Amino acid sequence: MDSIRILLLLIAAACFILGLKLLGKPETARKGNMISAMGMLAAVLGTSLIVWEHHGSFWPMSIAILAGAAIGIPTAKRVKMTAMPEMVALFNGFGGIASLLVGWSQLHLFMVQEKAASLLFFAGISIFLAMLIGGITFTGSLVAFGKLAGHIPTKPIILPHQNLINGAVLLLVLVGAVVFGFYPDQYWIFLIAAVISLGMGITAVIPIGGADMPVVISLLNSYSGLAACAAGLAIQNTLLIITGALVGASGIILTNIMCKAMNRSLANVLFSGFGASSPNAAGGGSGEKREAKSKTPEDVYYLLEAANSVVFIPGYGMAVAQAQHAVRELADILMENGTDVKFAIHPVAGRMPGHMNVLLAEANVDYDQLVTMDDINPIMDTMDVAVVIGANDVVNPSARDDPNSSIYGMPIIEADRARTVLILKRSLGSGFAGIENPLFYADNGYMVFGDAKKTLEAIVSEFKED
Ligand code: TAP
Repeated sequence: MDSIRILLLLIAAACFILGLKLLGKPETARKGNMISAMGMLAAVLGTSLIVWEHHGSFWPMSIAILAGAAIGIPTAKRVKMTAMPEMVALFNGFGGIASLLVGWSQLHLFMVQEKAASLLFFAGISIFLAMLIGGITFTGSLVAFGKLAGHIPTKPIILPHQNLINGAVLLLVLVGAVVFGFYPDQYWIFLIAAVISLGMGITAVIPIGGADMPVVISLLNSYSGLAACAAGLAIQNTLLIITGALVGASGIILTNIMCKAMNRSLANVLFSGFGASSPNAAGGGSGEKREAKSKTPEDVYYLLEAANSVVFIPGYGMAVAQAQHAVRELADILMENGTDVKFAIHPVAGRMPGHMNVLLAEANVDYDQLVTMDDINPIMDTMDVAVVIGANDVVNPSARDDPNSSIYGMPIIEADRARTVLILKRSLGSGFAGIENPLFYADNGYMVFGDAKKTLEAIVSEFKED
């Protein structure tokens, strides 16, 4: 039985590592997801064997599996693509609280057996860290979920001297960790720190604006991995250590990628209260009244019909409108027409990493047609038409041109350098950053007002009627 258990856990670890590698590219991501799921199955089976060895029954694991499946399957089926970040936030939170409970139960076991005083420093610290990081991750993720789902105001809520107080509390808890490492039978230190850790999750995330929540979620994802890793060390479970380390490392890499794509440091995301005030909220700074020109789907049809090259630039609005199938249909028609069609993806377009890639993959857009921001910008001035579909901040030229803009320095897809730019959205309203976009008033820019899906379907009908 021992060798079967070891084999299952080994298969699980290998599947997780391979799955994660395959998830790195859109072409192999589905396979990566499937292999990782197989790994999880092997891990659950291996864990069931461990529980069986200890309790002589499969009941505890069966109940846990059924409860998890009863919550997980319907939730995963029901969740809208636009609500995926909220779902990930909850997953992270559950991971965090699981690690806290594992650490706590391990300590409790030692307490009951009156063996806690004999715990080694390293073991005590591992238990403490599983609780501390797990607690912060749990409440932090709940706040992130609340902000994304609109249950909590998305604006940063900043108390006086918030960063100073947060820093002092963190220092206090870390001192508590060291003391607990030396005196692991002092249950009260652990319990007080557990309560503080839950509070710290709230005070760490509350001052961060809703626009930065995807970065925070990625960071909390990394924390949940670290908490799991510490829990793995606490109960000496190699698989938990490996998977925790994988999640911890991949979460921090993703956080770093997002920060780079917004040209901001992690410290700026965590401590600056970005979005507390809305600079330029009404007018890109200049204050002058400008007129935006607009086009109808029929005008757009004539323009696209004559174009040799078209680049679609999707953003959050495409996800809201669920316009991915309509844009694929239009792209197919244009290609049949002999037009060169590309899809340019900004790394932080939408509300979660890879948001646009996932939607376009769902609509079966060829991976070969996807180009990155770095690849499209050098050739943007050769494109006849750029069609911006529900994107706003990621094509906002003030990020490049206006040092006073709150998003100045964020790399953008330079749609304004195409010969003609069509902007498909419902109004002249702002995007997530809450600032005006001069692209709407550019000489070569035309608004195509309306829900992106309906607009695209109307353009497709024009082609079909032709
Ligand atoms: P946004 O700047 O948020 O703009 C989305 C636009 O979509 C809105 O201006 C809205 O305008 C339009 N829209 C909404 N519903 C629509 C519909 N049914 N049809 C057509 N248009 C619709 O989106 P973006 O350009 O993708 O930028 C993403 C933002 O999120 C950036 O600020 C980025 O920094 C931030 N962010 C993203 C991430 C990740 S990982 N993706 C992480 C952190 C931060 P109307 O209301 O006028 O229609």
